[in-house]
Amino acid sequence: MSGQQITPLPRCDTAAREDERSLVHRLAVALRTTGFHDPGNTSVQGAIAEFLCAARTRWAHEQVWVGVRNRCVFVNDERLRIGPSDYLNVRYLMDTYDRWGLGGVTFHPGLRDGEVRSLLYELNQKSERGLEELDARARALGLKHVELTEPERESEEPAAHLPLRTYSACLDVCREIQETVREHRHIRTRRLRRVTQAVVDQLLEDESALLSMTTIKEFDDYLFTHSTNVAILSVALGQRLGFDKRTLGDLCLAAFLHDLGKILVPREILDKPTKLDPSEQAEMQQHPIHAVILLLEQEQLNQSTIRAIVAGFEHHVNLDLSGYPRLTRKDSLTLFGRIICVADRYDAITTQRKYRKTTSTPHEGVRFLLQHSGSQFEPVLVKLFLEMLGFYPPGTVVGLNTGEVGVVRRPPLPGSALSRPQVRVVRGGDPGTILDLAERDAAGNHPRSVVTVLNPDNDGQLPALCSAEIDALGPIGAGIGDDLPTSPVRLPAAR
Ligand SMILES: [Fe+2]
Ligand SMILES: [Fe+2]
Repeated sequence: MSGQQITPLPRCDTAAREDERSLVHRLAVALRTTGFHDPGNTSVQGAIAEFLCAARTRWAHEQVWVGVRNRCVFVNDERLRIGPSDYLNVRYLMDTYDRWGLGGVTFHPGLRDGEVRSLLYELNQKSERGLEELDARARALGLKHVELTEPERESEEPAAHLPLRTYSACLDVCREIQETVREHRHIRTRRLRRVTQAVVDQLLEDESALLSMTTIKEFDDYLFTHSTNVAILSVALGQRLGFDKRTLGDLCLAAFLHDLGKILVPREILDKPTKLDPSEQAEMQQHPIHAVILLLEQEQLNQSTIRAIVAGFEHHVNLDLSGYPRLTRKDSLTLFGRIICVADRYDAITTQRKYRKTTSTPHEGVRFLLQHSGSQFEPVLVKLFLEMLGFYPPGTVVGLNTGEVGVVRRPPLPGSALSRPQVRVVRGGDPGTILDLAERDAAGNHPRSVVTVLNPDNDGQLPALCSAEIDALGPIGAGIGDDLPTSPVRLPAAR
């Protein structure tokens, strides 16, 4: 493995389309040829060599997916126009996929001709039990650079305009990654990439909607929600740093995987309801190293997974090199590692855990980041994080000068003061009303301001969205109440 980053040369659209068309054409021809001839036949050898040449020329260092959706052929996310001369071959390919219930095949760098030959002959066999059977055969044959994917139904796509569906897809993918790695199987990178892309698209479309999802802490197992929240917060930060979509996708992947090593930490330590003793603490602190080992076991290493491995290794190393594992050079920390470190710490301290009686409010969370800016955390990232969530981030329960109590629903709009978010009234005044604290009256004054921060039942926060809003977004989250528990004020507002 080489740590050197390999960036494919940019291609013009026409040349790229031609490469994609050629790849599909050659795959379809090879598939048909293996359907009619023995493996030793020169036509078979030639057809496979042609396909491999097309794959290796353009996709030598990255994976390529050849799939079918709604009877259209795709290469990665590009739909191909099929000309009349290709029609018979491509139809043979589509019929074969249909027969196996196969949505597509991902070919990974390092693909060997023996793997292509075995795959094509298997595809030409009779299908009894569909994709499950084909997948089992592929594994038995040791086809390590070939990944079979299920058909992608429209309803399963995490639509960019549906934040709850995107969030839910993230939870599913985190759960799936952990199960896959635990069973020493390969991560289905294509599905993972679609979900990371949905997160990026959603954040580009309506950032605050997805950010507000991170305040609903009752979805599922801590590790899934935590990984998802860290991914959303990290990508939102990366967006402010001007990352392009591909880099944001890589950052999302790295954040999804950052705590993967915890699957090797004994459950009794992870779930211990009291503080860890020193030996348990040491065991827990192995998880960044476990993550590296687990990901290196994956055969399909590419630039994205290497970035994820490094960021996962670094996410508990502070800017001043305190934390763990011990590193000696500050300049060796990657930007991904520093971003995930900030997002990870914020989500961890604002999420309820069994071993502590009190959870920090989101307001305390950003104050913690500010207090440790320059020592534990990169100051620029803390500044951007504060601008992103405001001084009272979503989920913070605030008391207003009018006597009303509200939950911060969305961060302040760009250009507004960081202490003036959008709030939903939950007690006093008119419950359910949405207030923008940046609004001014006719005299130019702010009629409402935050005067206190509450910590209801010491849980830290309430969901930024009320039940009705969550229900409107889909089935997940039903039953999450928005009543304000009657706990005393614990923390006076900072300003
Ligand atoms: Fe961690
Ligand atoms: Fe974490």
